[in-house]
Formats: sequence, structure tokens, C-alpha cells
Amino acid sequence: MKAVILVGGQGTRLRPLTINTPKAMVPVLNKPFLEHVIGHLSGHNIRDIILAQGHLAQPIEGYLGDGRRLGVRLSYIVEDAPLGTAGAVKNAQKHLDDSFLVLNGDIFTDLDISAMTGLHRQRKATATIALTPVADPTSYGLIETNAQGRVTRFLEKPSWEQVTTNMINAGTYILEPEVMAHIPEQTEFSFERQVFPMLLDRGEPIYAYPSTAYWIDIGNPEKYLQLNRDLLYGKSSRYRLAQGKEVSVGENSRIQPTARITGPALIGENCYIGRKATIKGPAVIGPGCQIQDGAIIEQSIIWSAAQIGAGAKVTGSIIAAHCRLGADSIIEESVLGDNVTVATGYRLKPGSQIWPGTRLPEQGKKA
Ligand code: GDD
Ligand code: MG
Repeated sequence: MKAVILVGGQGTRLRPLTINTPKAMVPVLNKPFLEHVIGHLSGHNIRDIILAQGHLAQPIEGYLGDGRRLGVRLSYIVEDAPLGTAGAVKNAQKHLDDSFLVLNGDIFTDLDISAMTGLHRQRKATATIALTPVADPTSYGLIETNAQGRVTRFLEKPSWEQVTTNMINAGTYILEPEVMAHIPEQTEFSFERQVFPMLLDRGEPIYAYPSTAYWIDIGNPEKYLQLNRDLLYGKSSRYRLAQGKEVSVGENSRIQPTARITGPALIGENCYIGRKATIKGPAVIGPGCQIQDGAIIEQSIIWSAAQIGAGAKVTGSIIAAHCRLGADSIIEESVLGDNVTVATGYRLKPGSQIWPGTRLPEQGKKA
């Protein structure tokens, strides 16, 4: 079976991380997000994968190439203008002649795709949609089902008054090729708002595959942090490495003996951790980072090649690539885009989101 991964969204809610980096490529445990998704697919023997891209197509293809390194075959399709979730799949039609899988490209899940496929075939469904329970369905697509597991209603982004169930569209579908006949070419078109409701009206058999397997949409910085933390704590059955307190250090990294590191923490290759520096997990430090003497990193994610000055403190934050934090600066509960420079002793207002390339304090403002 082939799979189409939708990676063409703007990633607006994950800004400023997604200004230079597509949402699908943000690092999770120091690997681009998409590598985890592809690993999940190949674990279920799905190795022909089509990436439906729009915004920021280049970095994905440049990094993953033909997929050989990951043991899969990757094809790329680029949209001139966003075609929506269904329009993007229609655009890949030439690759799809049998039952196929569609995945939202911003979901990390342990969903049992093989079992879902078995059910799809057994029920001779036109479409099978994975469902997951969530606490707040209003940011997702609500899906109602009957006692036989057949989908009876879709409601994308319901208001609280409209919420009748905690089961939502988990962003993984198995579709029969005839579904394509209902999607116009080169037209913005949505599975959630158009194709699925239309198939229901026609009385097509659409089944749900409910699952309580680990599931998260990395739509915003809080969810992105949560995914990293969850994986470090071993909440996904695919990453048991951490076991809650492990410290893993990449090749060629130098850690001074007086540094204190408490897990779970993942430190990339070629890092330097200075004297009496503190790293308190859950934390991920990207490759090539320099954490100077006495700096404190707590419950944070740092991308590659960041320089954290002596005595600086970073808590509950995401620091993107190539940031430079001056000595004794303080960053709390904030998100810094790539290449942000922070002056010595500067204390950033908690909850800030800083655009790539910014120098703090900004011109005309006092430190
Ligand atoms: N190629 C392409 N073109 N991809 C797109 C486009 C497009 O025009 N628009 C969105 N995508 C991709 C996004 O990159 C993302 O991977 C996926 O489609 C879903 O888009 P989101 O923007 O993340 O949607 P959402 O999270 O609000 O809602 C969707 O996912 C929920 C589960 O997380 C819906 O499918 C909901 O029904 C669902 O519950
Ligand atoms: Mg999403």
C-alpha cells in the first residue's frame, strides 16, 4: 500500500519555529519530525511514500532525498497554490491506483496501521478513518459513529455546544481509489469539510477505527514541547529508550565533570557542556550546542548550534538553531526562532515568541 503524507500547510500556529523550517521538519529528539512518521510507516511495511508539499518544499526534499537512507521510496509533489487536504491528494493521483493511506503530516502516533488496514478490507469500506479521544475536540474534526462503527457525521472544528463525543479525526485515512472521482482537479478541496460529508450523503460505507494508541498533533509550541517530553518519558511504545530518567549523549560531545545533568535528557553530537552547568530534564540539546559554565537549561528544547552563555538560564522554552544567548540572560516559557541574539544579562518577558534573526533588546528598547 502507498501512503500520501500531507506536508503543505503553513504551520502558522507553530510560528516562529516554522518561518524557516517546514512543520514536518522541526526536530523531535534531534531528528526531523517526518523521519518519525516515515519510521512508523516503514514499521508497518509501507515504503512507497508520496509527500504532498506546498509551502517550504525545498528543505524536505533536500534533506530526505529519495528516502533510501530511511529504507523507503519517496516521491514529491509540489503545489503552486495550496490545494487543501483533498486537492493535494488529487494532485498525486498518477501515483495512486489501489487502496492508499493518507496522513496529516503533523501527527505523531503509535496507531496500528496494519490492524486498521485489516479492518478496512474486512468491512469493504470506501474510507476508514482513525479516531482518537481528546480532552478538547473544538480544535479538531469531531466524528460521530453508530454501534457498528460506521461514521454518521463529521463536524470540523465544532463549538463547545456542538460537542457530542470526545472522538476526533486522528488524521489517518485508508481510501479506495474511487474516492478520487469526487475531488476536482487543481481546486482547493477538503476531505474534512467536503469529501467525507459528500461520501456520507451518498451512503458510502465510511468506517471509523478508534484507537487509544499514543497520538498528538504538533500544531503549536505547547504540543511540540509535550511531544518531546512524552517521548523522553517513554510514553510512545516506539521510543522506550528514555525510561523516564536516562541521559543520552551523542558522539564527540564534551561534558565537564562538574556539570550536573538529570534525565530524561538527550544531548546531540559535538556539544560542549561547561563547568557547573545544569541540565534538568526533560530536555533535548541539539548537535553542536555550546552550553557555557554555570548555565542552566531546564525542561527545554534547544535546536542545533546554539550558544548559551555562562550563567544564562533557559526554562520551559524552545530555542531554535544558531541562537546566541549572552551570559546571565534569562529565557522563560518562550519560543525563540533561528538566529536570535540575546544580550548579556537580558531578561526576556516570559511567554515571548521571538522572530528569527531578532537581536534582543530590540533597537531603542532598554535591556
Ligand atoms: N499539501 C497540502 N496542501 N497539505 C496541506 C494543505 C494544503 O493545502 N493544507 C493543510 N495541509 C496539511 C498540513 O500540513 C497538515 O499536515 C495536515 O494537512 C492537516 O492540516 P492542519 O492545518 O494541521 O489541520 P488541523 O490540525 O487544523 O486539522 C486536521 O487535523 C486534525 C487532527 O490533528 C483535520 O484533519 C481535523 O479533522 C483533525 O482532527
Ligand atoms: Mg494539525
